Amino acid sequence: MLREALTPMTLPPGHRVVISELGEAPLDAIARHAALVAMPAPDPATLGDRDVLIAIASASVGWVDLLMTSGQYQHPPRPPYTPGLEYAGTVAWRGPGAAGVEVGDRVLVDGLLAGPRSLGDYQAYGGFASYGVAPVEAVHRIPGGLSFDQACNLLGSYETAYHCLVTRGRLQPGETVLIHGASGSTGLAAVHLARRLGATVIATGRSEAKLAAVLREGAHHVVCTRGADGPRPFRDEVKALTGGRGVDVVYDGVGGDVSVESLRCVRFGARYLIVGWAATPFVARGKGLRGAPNANQLPTNLIMMKGLDVLGCPTVISTVNDPTLRPPRLAYVLAWAAEGTLRPHVSDVFPLAEFRAAMEAKWRGDVVGGCVVRP
Ligand SMILES: NC(=O)c1ccc[n+]([C@@H]2O[C@H](COP(=O)([O-])OP(=O)(O)OC[C@H]3O[C@@H](n4cnc5c(N)ncnc54)[C@H](OP(=O)(O)O)[C@@H]3O)[C@@H](O)[C@H]2O)c1
Repeated sequence: MLREALTPMTLPPGHRVVISELGEAPLDAIARHAALVAMPAPDPATLGDRDVLIAIASASVGWVDLLMTSGQYQHPPRPPYTPGLEYAGTVAWRGPGAAGVEVGDRVLVDGLLAGPRSLGDYQAYGGFASYGVAPVEAVHRIPGGLSFDQACNLLGSYETAYHCLVTRGRLQPGETVLIHGASGSTGLAAVHLARRLGATVIATGRSEAKLAAVLREGAHHVVCTRGADGPRPFRDEVKALTGGRGVDVVYDGVGGDVSVESLRCVRFGARYLIVGWAATPFVARGKGLRGAPNANQLPTNLIMMKGLDVLGCPTVISTVNDPTLRPPRLAYVLAWAAEGTLRPHVSDVFPLAEFRAAMEAKWRGDVVGGCVVRP
């Protein structure tokens, strides 16, 4: 009876994106194996006691969403599946045991507990869809007046930035951090978080136009890593910005040549955070096959002579190994979003029907911060 009482409306049918088969690479998957199909609204009678049904307003289009379509991310999905690790929307129904949220609440969904990056039954509900179902523990009221577009870009990026800069990097007020890929989702989150922590931020990227946006978002200095003829050495510029000393911490989400050059602009004993490798994404083969044909390599002579701490920073894997890492990290990110100091920047918004254009824009690197699709 209570279940009936909580069923507020007859929900209209919607749509969802389906990846029918893993691609050789993300662009192949998007072109050949992705489709927008009709989606009936989930029937509350089939849902669990602690389930929450969300009418999705906005879903993040992340780098990881792209790599998953070809199985080149560490967590390969089983097709057919709906992409969209993180999404936000309005509660349309909740089970009687799902106390804490109410119909009509504006919420974001935790991509580790629901959606294609999660491990259990809720994997089936990706964010590139009109509706999602998540267990109540995955559902948070949107903090700090964030828009739906901002809310679905909060947890993944800022938790990554927190894990890298705080848990692994032990970044201190007054230190200087060099942030590569600063126009990206996690990179821009790292810029915001490093500012929040009282560090000086030197942000890098390949595009002067995007770096101007990163400067507006709070970086103290920006350095372009690409010149007219290709990669551009940046050690002298970074050294000059630090009075010749070198940076205390490097946040490296780019890899490749940028990593090697970075080892020459750090102080002795610096912490070097391996966050990702956006410049060399194909460390696994397509179609979900394993192997590392293009693994990044760092020169051990520089690491040794500079006395560096090189720290691998896989946020999710570290959390699986040590679940105590998550509660404080989540609490800080939600609290700092509520106080208004962490506010995701979203440069590109697409209707769900244009999901291909959204994914291609993210892959090309047109985006500053977040990119979203709106069902
Ligand atoms: N450690 C973790 O737990 C964790 C969590 C999430 C993601 N990641 C990884 O971190 C990396 C960045 O993720 P993200 O979500 O921030 O990605 P993103 O939003 O696509 O940003 C990546 C940034 O890297 C820069 N970049 C430099 N060289 C590039 C190249 N050759 N190709 C593409 N981009 C290049 C781009 O900035 P410019 O165009 O301005 O140069 C781009 O904005 C990825 O490797 C991702 O897998 C790690």
